[in-house]
Amino acid sequence: MTTILGIESSCDETAAAVVYDGRRIGSSVVASQIALHSQYGGVFPEVAARAHIETISAVVEQALDDAQVTASDIDAVAVTRGPGLSGSLLVGVNFAKGLALGWDKPLLGIDHIEGHIYSLWLSDAADSYRFPLLILIVSGGHTELILMRGHGQYQQLGRTLDDAAGEAFDKVGRLLGLPYPGGPAIDRAAREGNPTAFAFARALPDDSLNFSFSGLKTAVLRAVQTPPQIAANGKRVKNTESMDVSHLRAGMSIPDVAASFQAAAVDHLVAKTARAAAACGATAILLAGGVSANGRLREAMQHHTRLPVYFPPLALCTDNAAMIAAAGHYRYVAGQRDSWALDVQPMAALTGD
Ligand code: KG4
Ligand code: ZN
Repeated sequence: MTTILGIESSCDETAAAVVYDGRRIGSSVVASQIALHSQYGGVFPEVAARAHIETISAVVEQALDDAQVTASDIDAVAVTRGPGLSGSLLVGVNFAKGLALGWDKPLLGIDHIEGHIYSLWLSDAADSYRFPLLILIVSGGHTELILMRGHGQYQQLGRTLDDAAGEAFDKVGRLLGLPYPGGPAIDRAAREGNPTAFAFARALPDDSLNFSFSGLKTAVLRAVQTPPQIAANGKRVKNTESMDVSHLRAGMSIPDVAASFQAAAVDHLVAKTARAAAACGATAILLAGGVSANGRLREAMQHHTRLPVYFPPLALCTDNAAMIAAAGHYRYVAGQRDSWALDVQPMAALTGD
């Protein structure tokens, strides 16, 4: 049996977890910075790094306490090395290095996207996975279709050409004056709205496996915004992406816009995933990343594809360290050991063997 300590600090959650055999959670602690960043309507990188420094030690201690393990029980320390915010990643990587060095344990640098994939192994459903698997990553920074042929073996089939799915939810949420982050807020607002109230065009209905969300975002903007105002100097008053909702058309139903946007975004994700599934020989479709918590996406993916569809447990869709520890287990048994020179990789791309 392996016992892996995972540490995650790539964006706005400081997290630590203990995971056994890459499958069972001993503890999972997530300190969210949402309250800290909501005043800016998005993540403020310097503020995020400082908050990680302040909380990481207590979060790791809590994870060890909750699992009732000590340093001698830990086989390796796994930490997110990228992609993410460089200042935030540095805090986790340096903390993990200090622990691994002090405890004389192996250090494992883990790709954040690979971590999201392994959140799917932290459920009993993983007993029935058979490679190859089609993975749809839908997070705040990434939207990708990946064919996973085995542990650590990835082939990218498609990706977004512009915004990530989560980013589109966050931008539309901000436009509608909904609280940060926009994804869960739109998911909630949409339950009260009519998804056919606005007929937003579905992007790239071609046979590529790529995604695009910027056109949809602009279509929502056009539908909800009052006509442009002209200032005294003759210039257009720019009022996009503001927290202030005075730019919204009077009498417009925010739940209707949220539901219609969500329906278009979900249709696009499902259409491309179904197309990939038909062509790639996968035995199942697995969704991961923050947007995989979305209720409509979960339902639609199950209804409109022929393969079995799996999702991470809800609490593990957004950033956490249990998924990093789970990925760490599979990397550890494959023989990965990183040196003390392990560096952060803010722009890393997940590559396969
Ligand atoms: O995976 P994640 O926690 O962080 C990244 O690695 O980016 O994903 C965060 C993203 C945010 O854009 C957030 O708005 C979105 O996931 N999200 C959702 C939902 N819950 C979180 N989007 C749609 N519906 C949700 N229920
Ligand atoms: Zn993430």
